[in-house]
Amino acid sequence: MASLLQRKLIVVTGKGGTGKTTVASALGLLGARSGRRTLVAELGDQHRLPDLFGRSHPSHPGAEIELEPGLWSTSIDPERALFEWLRTLGGRISTRMLAASSTFQYFAAAAPGAKELVSLVKVRELCERRHTDRDRRHDSANEDGGYDLVVLDAPATGHALAMLRSPRTFGAIVRAGPLAEQAQAVRAMLEDPAHSAYLAVAHGTEMAVSETLELEEGLRRQLDRDLDAVVVNGTMPRRFTRQELDSVSSATGKTASDSAPLVEAAGQAARAVYERGRVQRTQIARLRRQRFAGGKPPVLLTIPFLFTPELDLTAVHEIAAGLERKL
Ligand SMILES: Nc1ncnc2c1ncn2[C@@H]1O[C@H](COP(=O)(O)OP(=O)(O)OP(=O)(O)O)[C@@H](O)[C@H]1O
Ligand SMILES: [Mg+2]
Repeated sequence: MASLLQRKLIVVTGKGGTGKTTVASALGLLGARSGRRTLVAELGDQHRLPDLFGRSHPSHPGAEIELEPGLWSTSIDPERALFEWLRTLGGRISTRMLAASSTFQYFAAAAPGAKELVSLVKVRELCERRHTDRDRRHDSANEDGGYDLVVLDAPATGHALAMLRSPRTFGAIVRAGPLAEQAQAVRAMLEDPAHSAYLAVAHGTEMAVSETLELEEGLRRQLDRDLDAVVVNGTMPRRFTRQELDSVSSATGKTASDSAPLVEAAGQAARAVYERGRVQRTQIARLRRQRFAGGKPPVLLTIPFLFTPELDLTAVHEIAAGLERKL
């Protein structure tokens, strides 16, 4: 993972709801802690990170806001990114006019993948932006500053693969002009292991592990890249052995009648955690076994399920510390 944090771009994807945003936030904290100016870029109009850090949403869409020293966040809205990109071609047309115009509707419909590509062009700009003298003097938040590391909180697997495919798709359709050149540059960034890394987040379930395997296959087919890391999130603690659970079950029958329902419920809860953990270990073993024949095996990390009422910033710090220890 140390080498992971040394890339310019980490793309975090995986099955929906498995913890991509949580992991992207934890990686952001680790990047900033390691002294690198780090930006976590969310896609869509989400602002999960400002919420997590108790910051207000940016005053204008797409603005970069400082969450804590060395760590920023931004949100890239693909539709808006495309408006803005088209506006740079069209001169003084306002975003609103363009959005309503038939040119935009025509372009968006005729060029599937354009929004995704232009979003990646934005990501690349964030990765490539230079540090200014002003940053070096003040080392403070400003929107002209460059970043050492960009963590992309990408969409779930299928959409992420479509997005990562967009430079190639687009390059094949549009062979010349500014977008063709940018598509080429984005593609180079995505294909270069010195520059970018791919991290999958999964749960220890059959479906999430299958999706991770599909992601690995898709990455190889599309970009000739392997996953650099897989994070299995939400693993259950191994509190009891099978024998202990059996003795809990047999104790249930022997308990005095008024506390019997409570003992029964506690026994069921313990069994559920045990069973969930067992399935997770089977799936992690499957991931290790089936995964990535021939390719370089990714780092496999686990994050325990945190039994907190809310997954707040303290919990994300805990997750980041756990990931750091496993590096
Ligand atoms: N290790 C964990 N322990 C307990 N809860 C967790 C853990 N990781 C994530 N969660 C919770 O699981 C939910 C989903 O996490 P998160 O939003 O990070 O997933 P996601 O993959 O980004 O989802 P989406 O596909 O909707 O973007 C959130 O409520 C989050 O707080
Ligand atoms: Mg998310």
